[in-house]
Amino acid sequence: MAFCTKLCWGRSTNRKGADKKGTSWRIFSLKELHSATNNFNYDNKLGEGGFGSVYWGQLWDGSQIAVKRLKVWSTKADMEFAVEVEILGRVRHKNLLSLRGYCAEGQERLIVYDYMPNLSLLSHLHGQHSAEGLLDWHKRMQIAIGAAEGIVYLHHHATPHIIHRDIKASNVLLDSNFEAQVADFGFAKLIPDGATHVTTRVKGTLGYLAPEYAMFGKASESCDVYSFGILLLELASGKKPIEKLGASMKRTIVDWALPLARERRFHEIVDHKLNGKYKEEELRRLVLVALLCAQSGSEKRPTMLEAVDYLKGEAKEKFANLENHELFNPENQKSAGYAEGLSGTDESSEFILDDKELRGAAHSGTEAGHLS
Ligand SMILES: Nc1ncnc2c1ncn2[C@@H]1O[C@H](COP(=O)(O)OP(=O)(O)OP(=O)(O)O)[C@@H](O)[C@H]1O
Ligand SMILES: [Mg+2]
Repeated sequence: MAFCTKLCWGRSTNRKGADKKGTSWRIFSLKELHSATNNFNYDNKLGEGGFGSVYWGQLWDGSQIAVKRLKVWSTKADMEFAVEVEILGRVRHKNLLSLRGYCAEGQERLIVYDYMPNLSLLSHLHGQHSAEGLLDWHKRMQIAIGAAEGIVYLHHHATPHIIHRDIKASNVLLDSNFEAQVADFGFAKLIPDGATHVTTRVKGTLGYLAPEYAMFGKASESCDVYSFGILLLELASGKKPIEKLGASMKRTIVDWALPLARERRFHEIVDHKLNGKYKEEELRRLVLVALLCAQSGSEKRPTMLEAVDYLKGEAKEKFANLENHELFNPENQKSAGYAEGLSGTDESSEFILDDKELRGAAHSGTEAGHLS
C-alpha cells in the first residue's frame, strides 16, 4: 500500500488522534465493546450490511456508539486494516461520519462510530420511519447539500483523495438535527479480495452503480457523482433506485424521471408524501442536477464541486444553461448517453437482472493515488 512507508507504525493500545470536532479517535479493546453492546446482543443490532452487522452500544461515559463488526477477516490484510482505518479516522468534516476508533484483536475487526439518533436516510424514505413524514422539503434540501459537501471534501480536500464507492441512502446517516453524515467512505477498499462482502452486498447497492464501475470495476470520483445523482432522485421522489414493474421487469429511477424532466413535469416526480409542500425552483434544480450527475457517460458528469454550486443556486447563469442542456431537450429523447447505453430501457433491464458479473467486477478496481 502506497502510504505504508510513511504510516506503518507499531500498534499500541493508547494511541489517540486529535481532531477538529473536539473528540478523538482511539483503539478500543474487545472487552470494552462487548460490554458496551451487551455482548453484541441481538436486541442491540441496528442492521446488517455487506461487511457485517452494526450494533448500538453505550460506553462507560454514557455516550452512544454504533459498532460495525466485520464478518470474516483474512489475517494477511491485518496491517492494511490498521493503516487505512487510521487514515479514515483522520478525515473530519461536518457532513462525514467520523470514526471514533477501531478494535483489532485476534480475528475480530470492529469499527466504532458515533451513534446517529435519526438513523439513515433509507429508514426515512423506505424503512421504519417512512410513515412518520419527518422529511419535509427543507430537510431534504439540507440533506442533499450536506451530503454533497461531505463528498466534495472526500474528493477535493482530503489527503489522499478518497473515493467513497458506496454512496447510497443507507450510508447517509442523520444526526439529531437531520444534518447529513455520510458514512462508510473509503470502506469498500478495506475488505480484502475474496471476503464475503462481494457476494452479499451488491443487491442493495446495484441501482447506484455507475455503468463503468459495475462492468469494469473502474472506480473514480465520477462513479460517486453517478451514485449521488441516483441518491438525489430518490430524495426528491421517495422512489427506490430500481422499481419492480412485474415479475421480471424492472425500471431504473433515471429511466422513469428523465422523460418527465424533459417535459418539465416536475410535479409528477416529487414525493407525494410531501403533499405538494415544496419549493418549485429547488425541486427543478435538484432533479436536473441529479440527472446531470447520473448520466451513463462518465465524462459528461459534473464534479461534486459543480454539483454543490448548482444545488445551492450559486451558479445562476450556469443553471440557466443547464436548463437548455441537450440532455433535457424534449425533442431529444435519444441523446446525451441515456438511450444509447446501459440505461436505455431494454438494455438497462438486462443490466439490472444480470448482477452476477457485476459482483466480481465492481470490487476489483483500483485507482493509483487514491484511498479508494
Ligand atoms: N453510526 C450509526 N448510527 C446509526 N445507524 C447506523 C450507524 N451506522 C450504521 N447504521 C445503520 O446500520 C445498518 C447497517 O449498516 P451497514 O453500513 O453495515 O450496512 P449498509 O449501509 O446497509 O450497507 P453497506 O455494507 O454497503 O454499507 C444500516 O441501516 C445503517 O444505516
Ligand atoms: Mg453502510
